[in-house]
Amino acid sequence: MSEKIRVLLEEEQVDKRIREVAEQISRDYAGKQIHMICILKGGVFFTCELAKRVTVPVSLDFMSVSSYGSGTESSGVVRIVKDLDESIEGKEVLIVEDIIDSGRTLAYLIEMLKKRNPKSIHLCTLLDKPERRVKKQVTVDYTCFTIPDEFVVGYGLDYDQKYRNLPYIGVVEL
Ligand code: IMP
Ligand code: MG
Repeated sequence: MSEKIRVLLEEEQVDKRIREVAEQISRDYAGKQIHMICILKGGVFFTCELAKRVTVPVSLDFMSVSSYGSGTESSGVVRIVKDLDESIEGKEVLIVEDIIDSGRTLAYLIEMLKKRNPKSIHLCTLLDKPERRVKKQVTVDYTCFTIPDEFVVGYGLDYDQKYRNLPYIGVVEL
């Protein structure tokens, strides 16, 4: 435990912003039911907070993917570690992610899920690092915060499996 964590986004800021995004989503999906797909493990804290604040009916499913790559770069070749439990055919799918970095993981995942014939498929992320984007075709429908190109932890995000449980978002200072 030698890393120092600098606070980037306070717990109150994050909670306030999730509330706003949940209101926006509730308006956009009025009269519909949302099938939220949480991308494990990083998306789990955000998914819970978001789902609690959305006022339209929500069903939940979980998927765990691992992206082959070296070091900190994902390759775009995605292996499904845990697939969804239920079919998404005809459903209004909302993918909930912790962070979009290069976009490689999501680009692959969205193409794969589209083949399962959902009624719609949209993307919601807690954090976006657009400077790092390689896959320009990944369009994010709901973003809580756009952040600079720094490695962040907390609110589900890890550094070597640590710090997921921090209630705020911080930058690891090595
Ligand atoms: P992408 O395929 O490059 O977009 O990879 C995105 C994934 O990389 C995220 O779902 C995270 O698991 C991980 N990741 C990217 N940036 C960070 C970061 O700053 N902190 C922690 N995990 C990150
Ligand atoms: Mg992730």
